[in-house]
Amino acid sequence: MICTSSLFSALLLAASTIATPLTSGGCSTEKALLTLPDGQDKLAKQTGPPSFALLGAGVQNYTCGADGKYAAAGAVADLYDISCLGGTSKFSTVQDEAYGLLKDGKASCISSKLHLDPSGKHFFTPTASGTAPVWDMRAVGPKGVQGKTGAYVLAAKVANLPAPSGTGDVDWLQLKNVEGLLAKDIYRTETRGGQPPASCAVGSGPISVIYTSKYFLFGSTV
Ligand SMILES: *[C@@H]1O[C@H](CO)[C@@H](O)[C@H](O)[C@H]1NC(C)=O
Repeated sequence: MICTSSLFSALLLAASTIATPLTSGGCSTEKALLTLPDGQDKLAKQTGPPSFALLGAGVQNYTCGADGKYAAAGAVADLYDISCLGGTSKFSTVQDEAYGLLKDGKASCISSKLHLDPSGKHFFTPTASGTAPVWDMRAVGPKGVQGKTGAYVLAAKVANLPAPSGTGDVDWLQLKNVEGLLAKDIYRTETRGGQPPASCAVGSGPISVIYTSKYFLFGSTV
């Protein structure tokens, strides 16, 4: 299949990860900044660059309730380091390009076509009170982070902002650390897709809706 990693790209990847970056995978995050819309007061501003600037590409899951409406039921996404796009025009469009690839069924092309290093997984995990979102770089992450036992963050939602880009895009979010060393504060912004249809046939099965977003992780102590 096209775009699954070849030995050649694996070798290139190995070569390109030898230089040790400041924080994120390949580059300093100094120019890979979180931007929030002017005038909004839902999500707290952050001063300074994030510890990690990431692209998320995956699905938001929903189950159909007895009221005929979809309810959120977790998500699963691959994370990619976008720190090297900071300060370039590609930084503002990377979620659109990745969304286009997802829509065309080419999720496996995101890394090679957009020149982004895979940098973790986002998923939901069971907790005492339900499920919680996790960002995890223990198995796949930047040099110096991958393999560390604390290289994950399990988080709880603090606030949400309806996506400024439109009702088809999932909300922007601010979350806070509950467990793990990867971040103290987490933001999901610049979302594309991920919203369910307005209604469902009661008794119908779960659905997965493709989405992309940026994720900004602040305050890592990994
Ligand atoms: C979401 O759905 C995908 C299949 O589309 C599945 O692989 C994943 O485990 C689901 N995640 C959750 C949290 O339900």
